[in-house]
Formats: sequence, structure tokens, C-alpha cells
Amino acid sequence: MSSHIKLWDAPLRIFHWTFAVAVVAAITTGWLGGGLMIWHGRLGLLVLGLLVFRLLWGFVGSTYARWSRILGAAFGVKSYLQGNWQEAGHNPLGALSVLAMLGLVGFQVISGLMATDDIAFKGPLYALVSSDTGSWLTGLHRQAKWLLVGFIGLHLAAIAWYTLVRRKPLVGAMIKGRARREYPAQRDARGGSLLAAVLIVLLAVGTVWGVQSAAGWVAPPPAAAAPTLDW
Ligand code: HEM
Ligand code: HEM
Repeated sequence: MSSHIKLWDAPLRIFHWTFAVAVVAAITTGWLGGGLMIWHGRLGLLVLGLLVFRLLWGFVGSTYARWSRILGAAFGVKSYLQGNWQEAGHNPLGALSVLAMLGLVGFQVISGLMATDDIAFKGPLYALVSSDTGSWLTGLHRQAKWLLVGFIGLHLAAIAWYTLVRRKPLVGAMIKGRARREYPAQRDARGGSLLAAVLIVLLAVGTVWGVQSAAGWVAPPPAAAAPTLDW
């Protein structure tokens, strides 16, 4: 029996690192505002695409990327705290924090799409809601960033603790995909074909395109300027 198992498939690893960079960049550009808002909106759409990918990959990806596995782990908190947890992949507290981070980023994207900075920038779905709803969602979007920043801090602190104190190389596993087998019953991840990944990427791109164009479908573009007569 080999000393390592296949843990995170390549699409999940690519998702993670792209997501981490895009979320940090979205927070930074949103906070700085001004001329960076245009980039904030683009990064938000990238994050939307990544979330759609991750949601679907949880159904067709390999073993440890699946929702069934992650939700199963989230319900295993008691056994984990009693020291009886022997599964590979996210441990119960990890699974709960993963769900919280994905959920919070999902909330940021949805509220952001209908938000405005009251200067020149509006989310692509702002036109679909009343201005009261838009302001309310903008307020929530601004407040929720604190929760998100808190969870990212917790995420990094947990990883640092596992790496330095528990000597568990989690970061290496998220880069290379392989992890030390800690219990004999731990098995290689299976499933998650390249074809499925490609199809899901296409669906994610289609969703982003649809969201970006939706306002245009509902509200017709402004009427063309009246022709000027040049005599
Ligand atoms: C240098 C920064 C980061 C490092 C070293 C890092 C490392 C890791 C590692 C090692 C895991 C696997 C945890 C486990 O074994 O249970 C993980 C998972 C995860 N991280 Fe990070 N992370 C970083 C930044 C971020 C950021 C900024 C976010 C944004 C919110 C993020 C979101 C996630 C999510 C959602 C997962 C779960 C993956 C999944 O199953 O979808 N990470 N991270
Ligand atoms: C397409 C998606 C998104 C759109 C259209 C959008 C839109 C906006 C708008 C209009 C503001 C300005 C609010 C104001 O100045 O009052 C803003 C601020 C901000 N957004 Fe987003 N956003 C999106 C996604 C995200 C994501 C994914 C994150 C984080 C993961 C995020 C984090 C922030 C932060 C940190 C601010 C600064 C809030 C403040 O100044 O207090 N946004 N966003």
C-alpha cells in the first residue's frame, strides 16, 4: 500500500488558487474603489464563474471534492472533537469553514451584482431592482466583507496551525494533490473526468455571460440620439 493517496483533483486545485487570488483582489479593489471599480466588477464576475464551477464540481468531481463528502464531514464534528475522525479530505471543522467561505463569497457576488457605489459604477443587475433594494444590498455587501475577511483570517490561521504545530503539510496537498495516508482505510480519490471539467467550465462561462447581459435583455438600450440636421 502506497504511503500517499490522491486527495485533491487538478480542477479543484486550479479552482482553489484562482479563487484565492480573485477573492483577495476583489476585496482590495472594492475597498480602494474609484477607478478600480471597473476591475472590481470584472473580478466579481470571475468569482461568480468560479463559484458556479465549484458548485457543479461538487456533484461530478472526484471523491473528496464532492458535496456528499463535505456535508458528511460537516456532520462529523462530534466524532472529530472526540478524536475518532479518520477520514481523508476536509475534516469537520474544515468542511464547515469551507461552506461558510463559499457561502459568504456567494453572498458578496449576488449582492454586488445589484449594488452601486453611487458614483459611476453599478452591478450588471442593478437595473433589475428598485433603488431601495439596490441601496439595501449595497449596505449588506459593504458589511459582509468584515465577516469574509474574518473567515479568510481564520482559514489562514488554521492552515498555519496544522502546518507548524501538527506538522500536516496541507498546503503541499493543495498544490500537488497528494497527501500522506494517515490511516490504512483512506483511499485514493476517484472520478472527476477532464470532459466533465471542460463542460462545467463552459457552463460557468455561459452563466457569467448570461448575468452580464441579463439587464440588457430586460430593459431595452436607451434610444439612439435624435439625428442632427446639418443645414
Ligand atoms: C495563501 C493563502 C492560502 C492558502 C495557503 C490556502 C490553503 C488552503 C488549503 C491547504 C486548503 C485545504 C484545506 C484542507 O485540507 O481541508 C484550502 C481550502 C480552501 N480554501 Fe484556501 N488557502 C489560501 C487562501 C484562500 C483564500 C483567500 C480563500 C478565499 C475565500 C480560500 C478559500 C478556500 C476554500 C473555499 C477551500 C475549500 C476548497 C474546496 O473544497 O472547494 N483560500 N486552502
Ligand atoms: C460582480 C460582482 C460584484 C459587483 C458588481 C460588486 C459591486 C460593488 C460595489 C458597487 C461596491 C461599492 C459599494 C460602495 O462604495 O458603497 C463594492 C464594494 C466592495 N465589494 Fe463588491 N462587488 C462584486 C463582488 C464582490 C466580491 C466577490 C467581493 C469579495 C469577495 C466584494 C467585496 C467588496 C468590498 C470589500 C467592497 C468595499 C466596501 C466598502 O467600501 O466598505 N465584491 N462592490
